[in-house]
Amino acid sequence: MYKILKKQKWSDTIYSNWIEAPFVAKAAQPGQFIILITNQKGERIPLTIADSNAKEGWVQIVYQVVGASTLELSLMNEGDSLYAFVGPLGIPSEVENFGGKVLIIGGGIGIAPIHPIAKKLKELGNYVVSIIGARTKDLIIMEDKMREASNELHIATDDGTYGQKGFVTNIMDDILKKESEAIKDIWAIGPPIMMKMCTRVANEHNKQIWVSLNSIMVDGTGMCGACRVSVGGKTKFACVDGPEFRGNLVNFDEMMLRQKQYCDQEREALMLLEEKIRRQASNG
Ligand SMILES: Cc1cc2nc3c(=O)[nH]c(=O)nc-3n(C[C@H](O)[C@H](O)[C@H](O)COP(=O)(O)OP(=O)(O)OC[C@H]3O[C@@H](n4cnc5c(N)ncnc54)[C@H](O)[C@@H]3O)c2cc1C
Ligand code: FES
Repeated sequence: MYKILKKQKWSDTIYSNWIEAPFVAKAAQPGQFIILITNQKGERIPLTIADSNAKEGWVQIVYQVVGASTLELSLMNEGDSLYAFVGPLGIPSEVENFGGKVLIIGGGIGIAPIHPIAKKLKELGNYVVSIIGARTKDLIIMEDKMREASNELHIATDDGTYGQKGFVTNIMDDILKKESEAIKDIWAIGPPIMMKMCTRVANEHNKQIWVSLNSIMVDGTGMCGACRVSVGGKTKFACVDGPEFRGNLVNFDEMMLRQKQYCDQEREALMLLEEKIRRQASNG
């Protein structure tokens, strides 16, 4: 069960795996995520469903190696099986035919979770205007898939190595200046700071915006409280009440502070794993 059917390396730190998971594939909807565990002693890793195929029974995940658990996942190969793969979790995106244009913004690894939302919105008959961005050209992922899922695709890189030089928010602001009325809804997924800035631009144009909160999660069932966020002054759990919320109501500063709280333990776990890998390599 949960066999890695295919694995691709897209950049120094970004990988995509296609996992055999027929029940998850059958039920998956845009905006939802899974929690996987690589081995019996592994940590739980929440990852968004980037694509799925109910007929063929697979789920695609795209992940960036940022610490011990994602490094462990990246070391698994095609044919290996994951210990657990639970989902789909979370409330699906509120997509429908809005009778006009929708604006979709994906930053960095956030391009993967925004893809199924764009795809579904286009299938439903919306005119999908997408903006994808990353620090540099090599980190722009899923360009072909995003082109297919969009009626218009804009690309931005911070260093100008591809597309327009600058942030996704520059293009977002230009689009809203020209056609704010025509844009019926907005989704933005990426690093918290990007979602905060996109929300600021949306607020300046009096627009509502959806964001997907990747707060730290433990059980993924609403019991442990690890993923709590403040939305409209109320406590919400990203795993069961989200992960999508109206960005206009999210307290991003509090969320970003909470994400940093385990930094020391995370660094230690990564160092221990790297040391173990080095020892295994030198023992042949
Ligand atoms: C609903 C949800 C969907 C997600 N979807 C994706 C996805 O599609 N692709 C992807 O690459 N990542 C995604 N993430 C983030 C991913 O789960 C974390 O990067 C991963 O769990 C980190 O584990 P680690 O042990 O490798 O790193 P750790 O050692 O735990 O952390 C290393 C660094 O990553 C940061 N970090 C840890 N957990 C998170 C988190 N949940 N969100 C953001 N930063 C974190 C830490 O602050 C630290 O700086 C998602 C998170 C959530 C909650
Ligand atoms: S992860 Fe435990 S309450 Fe959400």
